[in-house]
Amino acid sequence: MIAKDTAIVLLAAGKGTRMRSELAKVLHRAGGLPLVEHVVRACLPLKPAQLLVVVGNQAKEVSAVVTELGAQTVLQQPQRGTGHAMQVARRAIRRSAKLALVVPGDAPLLRTETLAALLDTHRRGEAAATILTAELDDPTEYGRVLRDSEGRVQAIVEEKAATPEQRAIREVNSSIYCFTLSKLWPCLNALRPENAHRELYLTDVIGLLRQRNERVLAYVAPDSREILGCNTRAALAYVDRIFRARKAAELMDSGVTIYLPETVVIDPEVTAGSDTLVEPGVQLLGKTRIGARCKIQTGSVLRDTRVDDDAVIGPHSILDSSRVGLKAEVGPFSRLRPGADIRAGARVGNFVEVKNAVLHEGAKALHLSYLGDASIGSKANIGAGTITCNYDGVAKHQTKIGNGVFIGSDTALVAPVRVGHGAYVAAGSTITENVPADALALARGRQVNKPGWAAARRKEIARASKAEPRKRGRKSSRPSKPRRRAKSKSRR
Ligand code: UD1
Ligand code: MG
Repeated sequence: MIAKDTAIVLLAAGKGTRMRSELAKVLHRAGGLPLVEHVVRACLPLKPAQLLVVVGNQAKEVSAVVTELGAQTVLQQPQRGTGHAMQVARRAIRRSAKLALVVPGDAPLLRTETLAALLDTHRRGEAAATILTAELDDPTEYGRVLRDSEGRVQAIVEEKAATPEQRAIREVNSSIYCFTLSKLWPCLNALRPENAHRELYLTDVIGLLRQRNERVLAYVAPDSREILGCNTRAALAYVDRIFRARKAAELMDSGVTIYLPETVVIDPEVTAGSDTLVEPGVQLLGKTRIGARCKIQTGSVLRDTRVDDDAVIGPHSILDSSRVGLKAEVGPFSRLRPGADIRAGARVGNFVEVKNAVLHEGAKALHLSYLGDASIGSKANIGAGTITCNYDGVAKHQTKIGNGVFIGSDTALVAPVRVGHGAYVAAGSTITENVPADALALARGRQVNKPGWAAARRKEIARASKAEPRKRGRKSSRPSKPRRRAKSKSRR
Protein backbone atom coordinates (compact mmCIF):
# COMPACT_ATOMS: atom_id res chain seq x y z
CA MET A 1 0.00 0.00 0.00
CA ILE A 2 2.85 2.43 0.72
CA ALA A 3 5.97 2.83 -1.38
CA LYS A 4 9.21 1.04 -0.71
CA ASP A 5 10.78 4.33 0.36
CA THR A 6 8.88 4.49 3.65
CA ALA A 7 9.84 3.10 7.04
CA ILE A 8 7.44 2.98 9.95
CA VAL A 9 9.01 3.75 13.33
CA LEU A 10 6.98 2.75 16.35
CA LEU A 11 8.13 4.29 19.63
CA ALA A 12 7.64 1.80 22.46
CA ALA A 13 10.62 2.16 24.78
CA GLY A 14 9.07 4.39 27.47
CA LYS A 15 8.19 3.23 30.95
CA GLY A 16 4.84 4.95 31.29
CA THR A 17 5.39 6.47 34.72
CA ARG A 18 1.83 7.74 34.92
CA MET A 19 0.51 4.18 34.83
CA ARG A 20 2.20 3.56 38.19
CA SER A 21 2.92 0.01 37.13
CA GLU A 22 5.63 -2.62 37.06
CA LEU A 23 4.52 -3.36 33.52
CA ALA A 24 5.76 -1.24 30.60
CA LYS A 25 2.93 0.96 29.39
CA VAL A 26 2.72 -0.48 25.88
CA LEU A 27 2.15 -3.97 27.35
CA HIS A 28 -0.98 -2.90 29.21
CA ARG A 29 -4.06 -4.33 27.54
CA ALA A 30 -7.10 -2.62 26.11
CA GLY A 31 -9.72 -4.40 24.06
CA GLY A 32 -8.00 -7.71 24.81
CA LEU A 33 -4.58 -6.94 23.29
CA PRO A 34 -1.41 -5.18 24.45
CA LEU A 35 -1.51 -1.53 23.38
CA VAL A 36 1.54 -1.95 21.14
CA GLU A 37 -0.06 -4.89 19.34
CA HIS A 38 -3.01 -2.72 18.31
CA VAL A 39 -0.61 -0.18 16.85
CA VAL A 40 1.43 -2.79 14.97
CA ARG A 41 -1.78 -4.27 13.57
CA ALA A 42 -2.85 -0.85 12.32
CA CYS A 43 0.53 -0.44 10.57
CA LEU A 44 0.83 -3.85 8.92
CA PRO A 45 -1.73 -3.40 6.10
CA LEU A 46 0.35 -0.47 4.82
CA LYS A 47 3.05 -3.02 3.94
CA PRO A 48 5.94 -0.71 4.84
CA ALA A 49 9.44 -1.47 3.59
CA GLN A 50 10.46 -1.63 7.22
CA LEU A 51 8.48 -1.77 10.46
CA LEU A 52 10.87 -0.78 13.20
CA VAL A 53 9.91 -0.80 16.88
CA VAL A 54 12.05 1.12 19.37
CA VAL A 55 12.12 -0.92 22.58
CA GLY A 56 13.70 -0.19 25.97
CA ASN A 57 11.63 -0.82 29.07
CA GLN A 58 10.87 -4.53 29.29
CA ALA A 59 12.52 -4.77 25.90
CA LYS A 60 12.38 -8.55 25.86
CA GLU A 61 8.66 -8.73 26.51
CA VAL A 62 7.78 -5.93 24.10
CA SER A 63 10.03 -7.47 21.42
CA ALA A 64 8.30 -10.82 21.86
CA VAL A 65 4.94 -9.24 21.07
CA VAL A 66 6.06 -7.26 18.04
CA THR A 67 8.51 -9.67 16.38
CA GLU A 68 5.76 -12.28 16.41
CA LEU A 69 3.86 -9.88 14.16
CA GLY A 70 6.82 -9.44 11.82
CA ALA A 71 8.32 -6.20 13.15
CA GLN A 72 12.02 -5.51 13.67
CA THR A 73 13.30 -4.00 16.94
CA VAL A 74 16.00 -1.55 17.94
CA LEU A 75 17.08 -0.98 21.53
CA GLN A 76 16.96 2.47 23.15
CA GLN A 77 18.88 2.28 26.40
CA PRO A 78 18.58 4.51 28.41
CA GLN A 79 15.40 6.26 27.28
CA ARG A 80 16.03 9.95 26.88
CA GLY A 81 12.81 11.01 25.22
CA THR A 82 10.91 10.66 21.96
CA GLY A 83 13.54 12.64 20.03
CA HIS A 84 16.28 10.39 21.36
CA ALA A 85 14.20 7.32 20.42
CA MET A 86 14.17 8.61 16.84
CA GLN A 87 17.95 9.17 16.94
CA VAL A 88 18.36 5.55 17.99
CA ALA A 89 15.99 4.37 15.26
CA ARG A 90 18.08 6.21 12.67
CA ARG A 91 20.81 3.56 12.98
CA ALA A 92 18.39 0.88 11.86
CA ILE A 93 16.55 2.74 9.11
CA ARG A 94 17.64 1.62 5.67
CA ARG A 95 19.45 4.11 3.47
CA SER A 96 16.88 3.60 0.74
CA ALA A 97 14.14 5.04 2.97
CA LYS A 98 13.05 8.55 2.07
CA LEU A 99 10.12 8.91 4.47
CA ALA A 100 9.36 7.79 8.00
CA LEU A 101 5.94 7.36 9.49
CA VAL A 102 6.35 7.75 13.27
CA VAL A 103 3.75 6.27 15.60
CA PRO A 104 3.69 5.98 19.40
CA GLY A 105 3.09 2.61 21.03
CA ASP A 106 0.35 3.94 23.29
CA ALA A 107 -2.27 5.03 20.72
CA PRO A 108 -4.20 1.78 20.18
CA LEU A 109 -7.29 3.24 18.47
CA LEU A 110 -5.29 4.40 15.47
CA ARG A 111 -6.65 3.11 12.14
CA THR A 112 -4.75 2.13 9.00
CA GLU A 113 -6.88 4.47 6.86
CA THR A 114 -5.82 7.46 8.93
CA LEU A 115 -2.13 6.59 8.57
CA ALA A 116 -2.62 6.23 4.82
CA ALA A 117 -4.35 9.62 4.66
CA LEU A 118 -1.53 11.22 6.65
CA LEU A 119 1.05 9.81 4.27
CA ASP A 120 -0.98 10.97 1.29
CA THR A 121 -1.22 14.52 2.68
CA HIS A 122 2.53 14.53 3.23
CA ARG A 123 3.38 13.37 -0.27
CA ARG A 124 0.93 15.65 -2.06
CA GLY A 125 2.01 18.63 0.03
CA GLU A 126 5.70 17.86 -0.49
CA ALA A 127 6.20 18.63 3.16
CA ALA A 128 9.22 18.16 5.41
CA ALA A 129 6.87 17.01 8.15
CA THR A 130 3.15 16.34 8.44
CA ILE A 131 1.56 15.99 11.87
CA LEU A 132 -1.60 14.07 12.60
CA THR A 133 -3.51 16.39 14.91
CA ALA A 134 -6.93 16.28 16.54
CA GLU A 135 -9.33 18.66 18.21
CA LEU A 136 -10.07 17.46 21.73
CA ASP A 137 -12.67 18.78 24.16
CA ASP A 138 -10.16 18.16 26.92
CA PRO A 139 -6.62 18.60 25.58
CA THR A 140 -4.96 18.19 29.01
CA GLU A 141 -1.64 16.28 28.93
CA TYR A 142 -1.18 16.61 25.17
CA GLY A 143 1.25 18.79 23.25
CA ARG A 144 -0.60 21.75 21.65
CA VAL A 145 -0.25 22.71 18.00
CA LEU A 146 0.73 26.35 17.53
CA ARG A 147 -0.30 27.95 14.25
CA ASP A 148 0.43 31.42 12.89
CA SER A 149 -2.18 33.96 11.81
CA GLU A 150 -2.43 32.25 8.43
CA GLY A 151 -3.05 28.90 10.03
CA ARG A 152 0.38 27.46 9.24
CA VAL A 153 1.84 25.12 11.85
CA GLN A 154 4.65 26.83 13.76
CA ALA A 155 5.56 24.51 16.62
CA ILE A 156 4.35 22.07 19.22
CA VAL A 157 4.41 23.09 22.85
CA GLU A 158 4.16 20.48 25.60
CA GLU A 159 1.55 20.98 28.33
CA LYS A 160 4.15 21.69 31.02
CA ALA A 161 5.84 24.45 29.01
CA ALA A 162 2.62 25.99 27.68
CA THR A 163 1.36 29.44 28.65
CA PRO A 164 -2.27 29.70 29.84
CA GLU A 165 -3.26 30.97 26.35
CA GLN A 166 -1.51 28.02 24.69
CA ARG A 167 -3.19 25.61 27.06
CA ALA A 168 -6.54 26.89 25.83
CA ILE A 169 -5.69 25.54 22.33
CA ARG A 170 -7.70 22.41 21.63
CA GLU A 171 -5.74 21.16 18.65
CA VAL A 172 -3.27 18.57 19.96
CA ASN A 173 -0.30 16.63 18.68
CA SER A 174 -1.07 12.92 18.30
CA SER A 175 2.63 11.97 18.26
CA ILE A 176 1.95 10.49 14.83
CA TYR A 177 3.97 12.14 12.09
CA CYS A 178 5.32 11.70 8.62
CA PHE A 179 8.86 13.01 8.06
CA THR A 180 11.00 13.47 5.00
CA LEU A 181 14.17 11.95 6.40
CA SER A 182 16.67 14.24 4.70
CA LYS A 183 14.94 17.18 6.44
CA LEU A 184 14.50 15.40 9.75
CA TRP A 185 18.08 14.29 10.42
CA PRO A 186 19.71 17.74 10.79
CA CYS A 187 16.94 18.85 13.17
CA LEU A 188 17.27 15.67 15.26
CA ASN A 189 20.93 16.49 15.77
CA ALA A 190 19.98 19.96 16.92
CA LEU A 191 17.62 18.80 19.70
CA ARG A 192 18.48 19.93 23.23
CA PRO A 193 17.05 18.60 26.52
CA GLU A 194 15.83 22.01 27.62
CA ASN A 195 12.53 21.03 29.23
CA ALA A 196 10.92 19.83 32.45
CA HIS A 197 12.04 16.22 31.93
CA ARG A 198 15.56 16.93 30.60
CA GLU A 199 14.68 14.80 27.58
CA LEU A 200 15.03 15.15 23.83
CA TYR A 201 11.55 15.86 22.51
CA LEU A 202 10.66 14.85 18.98
CA THR A 203 8.03 17.59 19.13
CA ASP A 204 10.81 20.22 19.10
CA VAL A 205 11.73 19.11 15.59
CA ILE A 206 8.62 20.88 14.29
CA GLY A 207 9.75 24.30 15.54
CA LEU A 208 13.27 23.64 14.23
CA LEU A 209 11.95 22.76 10.77
CA ARG A 210 9.92 25.95 10.69
CA GLN A 211 12.97 28.01 11.71
CA ARG A 212 14.62 26.54 8.62
CA ASN A 213 11.61 27.58 6.59
CA GLU A 214 10.64 24.00 5.84
CA ARG A 215 7.07 23.05 5.05
CA VAL A 216 5.14 21.57 7.97
CA LEU A 217 1.56 20.42 7.44
CA ALA A 218 -1.13 19.09 9.73
CA TYR A 219 -3.75 16.49 8.92
CA VAL A 220 -6.64 16.74 11.37
CA ALA A 221 -7.97 13.30 12.33
CA PRO A 222 -11.62 12.95 11.27
CA ASP A 223 -12.39 11.09 14.51
CA SER A 224 -10.47 12.68 17.36
CA ARG A 225 -10.82 9.62 19.59
CA GLU A 226 -8.53 7.73 17.29
CA ILE A 227 -5.40 9.45 18.54
CA LEU A 228 -6.03 8.99 22.27
CA GLY A 229 -2.82 8.07 24.07
CA CYS A 230 -3.11 5.75 27.06
CA ASN A 231 -0.89 7.41 29.62
CA THR A 232 -3.06 6.62 32.67
CA ARG A 233 -5.29 3.84 33.93
CA ALA A 234 -8.29 6.08 33.37
CA ALA A 235 -7.34 6.52 29.72
CA LEU A 236 -6.80 2.76 29.44
CA ALA A 237 -10.30 2.03 30.78
CA TYR A 238 -11.80 4.62 28.43
CA VAL A 239 -10.06 3.13 25.40
CA ASP A 240 -10.95 -0.42 26.46
CA ARG A 241 -14.60 0.56 26.61
CA ILE A 242 -14.43 1.91 23.06
CA PHE A 243 -12.86 -1.35 21.80
CA ARG A 244 -15.47 -3.47 23.56
CA ALA A 245 -18.31 -1.37 22.18
CA ARG A 246 -16.86 -1.64 18.66
CA LYS A 247 -16.58 -5.43 18.91
CA ALA A 248 -20.10 -5.84 20.29
CA ALA A 249 -21.43 -3.62 17.50
CA GLU A 250 -19.58 -5.70 14.89
CA LEU A 251 -21.14 -8.93 16.22
CA MET A 252 -24.60 -7.38 16.43
CA ASP A 253 -24.23 -6.22 12.81
CA SER A 254 -23.47 -9.80 11.84
CA GLY A 255 -26.67 -11.09 13.47
CA VAL A 256 -25.80 -11.77 17.12
CA THR A 257 -28.21 -10.56 19.80
CA ILE A 258 -26.46 -8.95 22.74
CA TYR A 259 -28.48 -7.63 25.65
CA LEU A 260 -26.86 -4.81 27.65
CA PRO A 261 -23.81 -4.83 25.33
CA GLU A 262 -22.05 -2.36 27.61
CA THR A 263 -21.69 -5.17 30.17
CA VAL A 264 -20.05 -7.78 27.92
CA VAL A 265 -16.33 -8.20 27.26
CA ILE A 266 -15.50 -9.70 23.87
CA ASP A 267 -11.96 -10.07 22.57
CA PRO A 268 -11.14 -9.04 19.01
CA GLU A 269 -10.67 -12.51 17.53
CA VAL A 270 -13.92 -13.96 18.86
CA THR A 271 -16.52 -15.03 16.29
CA ALA A 272 -20.21 -15.91 16.77
CA GLY A 273 -22.82 -17.17 14.34
CA SER A 274 -26.14 -15.55 13.58
CA ASP A 275 -29.07 -15.72 16.00
CA THR A 276 -26.75 -16.50 18.85
CA LEU A 277 -27.78 -14.76 22.04
CA VAL A 278 -25.28 -13.24 24.45
CA GLU A 279 -26.73 -12.27 27.80
CA PRO A 280 -25.48 -9.50 30.13
CA GLY A 281 -22.18 -9.90 31.95
CA VAL A 282 -20.71 -12.49 29.57
CA GLN A 283 -16.98 -12.56 28.69
CA LEU A 284 -15.88 -14.16 25.41
CA LEU A 285 -12.10 -14.23 25.40
CA GLY A 286 -9.11 -15.25 23.30
CA LYS A 287 -9.91 -17.31 20.23
CA THR A 288 -13.40 -18.35 21.34
CA ARG A 289 -15.63 -19.38 18.43
CA ILE A 290 -19.37 -19.69 18.84
CA GLY A 291 -21.73 -21.22 16.33
CA ALA A 292 -25.20 -20.14 15.24
CA ARG A 293 -28.32 -20.11 17.44
CA CYS A 294 -26.35 -20.64 20.65
CA LYS A 295 -27.29 -19.16 23.98
CA ILE A 296 -24.50 -17.83 26.18
CA GLN A 297 -26.16 -16.97 29.43
CA THR A 298 -25.45 -14.34 32.00
CA GLY A 299 -22.14 -14.27 33.84
CA SER A 300 -20.41 -16.97 31.79
CA VAL A 301 -16.73 -16.65 30.88
CA LEU A 302 -15.42 -18.52 27.81
CA ARG A 303 -11.74 -18.50 26.86
CA ASP A 304 -10.30 -20.15 23.74
CA THR A 305 -13.38 -22.35 23.57
CA ARG A 306 -15.32 -23.64 20.60
CA VAL A 307 -19.09 -23.93 20.88
CA ASP A 308 -21.01 -25.57 18.02
CA ASP A 309 -24.44 -24.56 16.72
CA ASP A 310 -27.52 -24.64 18.96
CA ALA A 311 -25.56 -25.24 22.16
CA VAL A 312 -26.54 -23.62 25.45
CA ILE A 313 -24.10 -22.34 28.03
CA GLY A 314 -26.14 -21.76 31.18
CA PRO A 315 -25.53 -18.89 33.60
CA HIS A 316 -22.23 -18.53 35.46
CA SER A 317 -20.29 -21.23 33.67
CA ILE A 318 -16.52 -21.00 33.21
CA LEU A 319 -15.07 -22.64 30.09
CA ASP A 320 -11.39 -22.67 29.22
CA SER A 321 -9.82 -24.27 26.12
CA SER A 322 -12.79 -26.60 25.78
CA ARG A 323 -15.21 -27.81 23.11
CA VAL A 324 -18.98 -27.91 23.29
CA GLY A 325 -20.74 -29.83 20.51
CA LEU A 326 -23.94 -29.35 18.58
CA LYS A 327 -27.01 -28.90 20.83
CA ALA A 328 -24.95 -29.72 23.91
CA GLU A 329 -25.88 -28.06 27.21
CA VAL A 330 -23.51 -26.80 29.84
CA GLY A 331 -24.37 -25.08 33.13
CA PRO A 332 -25.62 -23.33 35.04
CA PHE A 333 -22.51 -23.19 37.23
CA SER A 334 -20.36 -25.64 35.27
CA ARG A 335 -16.60 -25.51 35.02
CA LEU A 336 -14.92 -26.84 31.89
CA ARG A 337 -11.16 -26.84 32.19
CA PRO A 338 -8.67 -27.36 29.34
CA GLY A 339 -9.39 -30.44 27.27
CA ALA A 340 -13.05 -30.77 28.21
CA ASP A 341 -14.83 -32.07 25.11
CA ILE A 342 -18.60 -32.15 25.41
CA ARG A 343 -19.90 -33.85 22.27
CA ALA A 344 -23.21 -33.34 20.48
CA GLY A 345 -26.27 -33.44 22.72
CA ALA A 346 -24.27 -34.17 25.87
CA ARG A 347 -25.15 -32.30 29.06
CA VAL A 348 -23.07 -31.04 31.95
CA GLY A 349 -24.93 -29.52 34.86
CA ASN A 350 -24.43 -27.50 37.99
CA PHE A 351 -21.23 -27.78 40.00
CA VAL A 352 -19.73 -30.26 37.59
CA GLU A 353 -16.03 -29.83 36.84
CA VAL A 354 -14.63 -31.45 33.71
CA LYS A 355 -10.93 -31.52 32.80
CA ASN A 356 -9.24 -33.33 29.92
CA ALA A 357 -12.26 -35.54 29.46
CA VAL A 358 -14.63 -36.43 26.62
CA LEU A 359 -18.35 -36.79 27.19
CA HIS A 360 -19.48 -38.59 24.06
CA GLU A 361 -22.80 -37.95 22.30
CA GLY A 362 -25.75 -37.66 24.64
CA ALA A 363 -23.82 -38.42 27.85
CA LYS A 364 -25.07 -36.67 30.99
CA ALA A 365 -23.37 -35.47 34.18
CA LEU A 366 -25.86 -33.11 35.70
CA HIS A 367 -24.91 -32.59 39.31
CA LEU A 368 -21.92 -32.08 41.60
CA SER A 369 -19.19 -34.14 39.94
CA TYR A 370 -15.51 -34.12 39.05
CA LEU A 371 -14.62 -35.79 35.75
CA GLY A 372 -10.91 -35.57 34.98
CA ASP A 373 -8.75 -37.56 32.53
CA ALA A 374 -11.77 -39.55 31.48
CA SER A 375 -13.72 -40.81 28.53
CA ILE A 376 -17.46 -41.11 29.11
CA GLY A 377 -19.33 -43.20 26.55
CA SER A 378 -22.32 -42.01 24.58
CA LYS A 379 -25.60 -41.84 26.49
CA ALA A 380 -23.84 -42.74 29.74
CA ASN A 381 -25.44 -41.28 32.87
CA ILE A 382 -23.13 -40.02 35.57
CA GLY A 383 -24.95 -39.76 38.89
CA ALA A 384 -24.76 -36.85 41.28
CA GLY A 385 -21.55 -36.64 43.25
CA THR A 386 -19.48 -38.94 41.02
CA ILE A 387 -15.75 -38.40 41.30
CA THR A 388 -12.99 -39.72 39.08
CA CYS A 389 -10.04 -40.16 41.43
CA ASN A 390 -7.50 -39.41 38.71
CA TYR A 391 -4.48 -38.46 40.79
CA ASP A 392 -2.55 -40.74 43.09
CA GLY A 393 -0.30 -38.01 44.42
CA VAL A 394 2.32 -38.64 41.73
CA ALA A 395 0.69 -39.27 38.37
CA LYS A 396 -2.65 -38.82 36.60
CA HIS A 397 -4.62 -41.89 35.47
CA GLN A 398 -7.48 -42.48 33.05
CA THR A 399 -11.05 -43.53 33.72
CA LYS A 400 -12.87 -45.09 30.80
CA ILE A 401 -16.63 -45.44 30.93
CA GLY A 402 -18.43 -47.27 28.13
CA ASN A 403 -21.55 -46.40 26.17
CA GLY A 404 -24.86 -46.44 28.00
CA VAL A 405 -23.25 -46.96 31.41
CA PHE A 406 -25.18 -45.94 34.52
CA ILE A 407 -23.00 -44.64 37.33
CA GLY A 408 -25.00 -44.37 40.56
CA SER A 409 -24.76 -41.28 42.72
CA ASP A 410 -21.76 -40.75 44.96
CA THR A 411 -19.49 -43.14 43.13
CA ALA A 412 -15.72 -42.83 43.37
CA LEU A 413 -13.88 -44.26 40.36
CA VAL A 414 -10.28 -44.89 41.36
CA ALA A 415 -8.23 -44.57 38.17
CA PRO A 416 -6.89 -46.29 36.19
CA VAL A 417 -10.20 -48.07 35.81
CA ARG A 418 -12.67 -49.10 33.11
CA VAL A 419 -16.40 -49.63 33.19
CA GLY A 420 -17.58 -51.72 30.22
CA HIS A 421 -20.47 -50.80 27.90
CA GLY A 422 -23.92 -51.00 29.40
CA ALA A 423 -22.73 -51.71 32.96
CA TYR A 424 -24.33 -50.39 36.15
CA VAL A 425 -22.46 -49.12 39.17
CA ALA A 426 -24.46 -49.01 42.37
CA ALA A 427 -24.74 -45.71 44.21
CA GLY A 428 -22.09 -45.06 46.82
CA SER A 429 -19.57 -47.45 45.29
CA THR A 430 -15.83 -47.01 45.37
CA ILE A 431 -14.73 -48.70 42.14
CA THR A 432 -11.13 -49.87 42.16
CA GLU A 433 -11.38 -52.74 39.67
CA ASN A 434 -12.59 -52.86 36.07
CA VAL A 435 -16.30 -53.55 35.62
CA PRO A 436 -17.21 -55.92 32.75
CA ALA A 437 -19.76 -54.86 30.15
CA ASP A 438 -23.41 -55.23 31.20
CA ALA A 439 -22.45 -56.14 34.80
CA LEU A 440 -23.64 -54.54 38.03
CA ALA A 441 -20.84 -53.44 40.30
CA LEU A 442 -21.50 -52.92 43.99
CA ALA A 443 -18.60 -51.74 46.08
CA ARG A 444 -19.84 -50.53 49.42
CA GLY A 445 -20.51 -51.85 52.92
CA ARG A 446 -23.50 -54.22 53.01
CA GLN A 447 -26.55 -52.75 54.73
CA VAL A 448 -27.72 -54.22 58.06
CA ASN A 449 -31.35 -53.68 59.19
CA LYS A 450 -32.12 -54.07 62.91
CA PRO A 451 -35.90 -54.61 63.19
CA GLY A 452 -37.63 -52.53 65.88
CA TRP A 453 -34.45 -50.75 66.85
CA ALA A 454 -35.77 -47.24 66.23
CA ALA A 455 -39.04 -47.82 68.10
CA ALA A 456 -37.16 -49.21 71.08
CA ARG A 457 -34.83 -46.24 71.07
CA ARG A 458 -37.77 -43.82 71.02
CA LYS A 459 -39.32 -45.57 74.02
CA GLU A 460 -36.08 -45.31 75.93
CA ILE A 461 -35.85 -41.59 75.21
CA ALA A 462 -39.46 -41.04 76.30
CA ARG A 463 -38.81 -42.87 79.58
CA ALA A 464 -35.74 -40.78 80.32
CA SER A 465 -37.56 -37.51 79.62
CA LYS A 466 -40.45 -38.46 81.97
CA ALA A 467 -37.92 -38.89 84.75
CA GLU A 468 -36.35 -35.51 83.94
CA PRO A 469 -39.29 -33.12 84.79
CA ARG A 470 -39.65 -34.70 88.31
CA LYS A 471 -36.04 -33.98 89.00
CA ARG A 472 -36.43 -30.48 87.70
CA GLY A 473 -39.67 -29.94 89.67
CA ARG A 474 -37.97 -30.91 92.92
CA LYS A 475 -35.13 -28.61 92.18
CA SER A 476 -37.39 -25.65 91.45
CA SER A 477 -39.40 -26.06 94.69
CA ARG A 478 -36.26 -25.71 96.72
CA PRO A 479 -34.39 -22.49 97.30
CA SER A 480 -32.03 -22.13 94.44
CA LYS A 481 -28.48 -23.33 94.77
CA PRO A 482 -25.67 -21.80 92.83
CA ARG A 483 -25.60 -23.78 89.61
CA ARG A 484 -21.93 -24.01 89.13
CA ARG A 485 -21.36 -25.63 92.53
CA ALA A 486 -24.02 -28.22 91.88
CA LYS A 487 -22.39 -29.03 88.56
CA SER A 488 -18.92 -29.36 89.98
CA LYS A 489 -20.24 -31.64 92.74
CA SER A 490 -21.88 -33.95 90.29
CA ARG A 491 -18.66 -34.15 88.36
CA ARG A 492 -16.83 -35.29 91.46
C1 UD1 B 1 3.74 12.66 23.47
C2 UD1 B 1 4.07 14.01 22.80
C3 UD1 B 1 2.85 14.93 22.93
C4 UD1 B 1 1.63 14.29 22.33
C5 UD1 B 1 1.38 12.91 22.97
C6 UD1 B 1 0.27 12.19 22.23
C7 UD1 B 1 6.47 14.31 23.11
C8 UD1 B 1 7.53 15.03 23.84
N1 UD1 B 1 5.21 14.60 23.43
O1 UD1 B 1 3.56 12.90 24.85
O2 UD1 B 1 3.13 16.16 22.24
O3 UD1 B 1 0.51 15.12 22.52
O4 UD1 B 1 2.56 12.10 22.89
O5 UD1 B 1 -0.06 11.00 22.85
O6 UD1 B 1 6.77 13.54 22.23
N2 UD1 B 1 9.03 6.61 24.07
C9 UD1 B 1 10.20 5.98 23.67
N3 UD1 B 1 11.38 6.41 24.20
C10 UD1 B 1 11.46 7.44 25.09
C11 UD1 B 1 10.26 8.07 25.48
C12 UD1 B 1 9.05 7.65 24.93
O7 UD1 B 1 10.18 5.05 22.87
O8 UD1 B 1 12.57 7.78 25.52
C13 UD1 B 1 7.75 6.12 23.51
C14 UD1 B 1 6.77 5.69 24.59
O9 UD1 B 1 6.93 4.31 24.89
C15 UD1 B 1 5.43 5.99 23.96
C16 UD1 B 1 5.73 7.12 22.97
O10 UD1 B 1 7.12 7.17 22.83
O11 UD1 B 1 4.91 4.89 23.26
C17 UD1 B 1 5.19 8.46 23.48
O12 UD1 B 1 5.75 8.71 24.77
P1 UD1 B 1 4.88 9.26 25.97
O13 UD1 B 1 5.70 9.29 27.17
O14 UD1 B 1 3.59 8.56 26.02
O15 UD1 B 1 4.64 10.76 25.48
P2 UD1 B 1 3.44 11.71 25.94
O16 UD1 B 1 3.77 12.33 27.21
O17 UD1 B 1 2.16 11.01 25.80
MG1 MG C 1 1.62 9.05 25.55
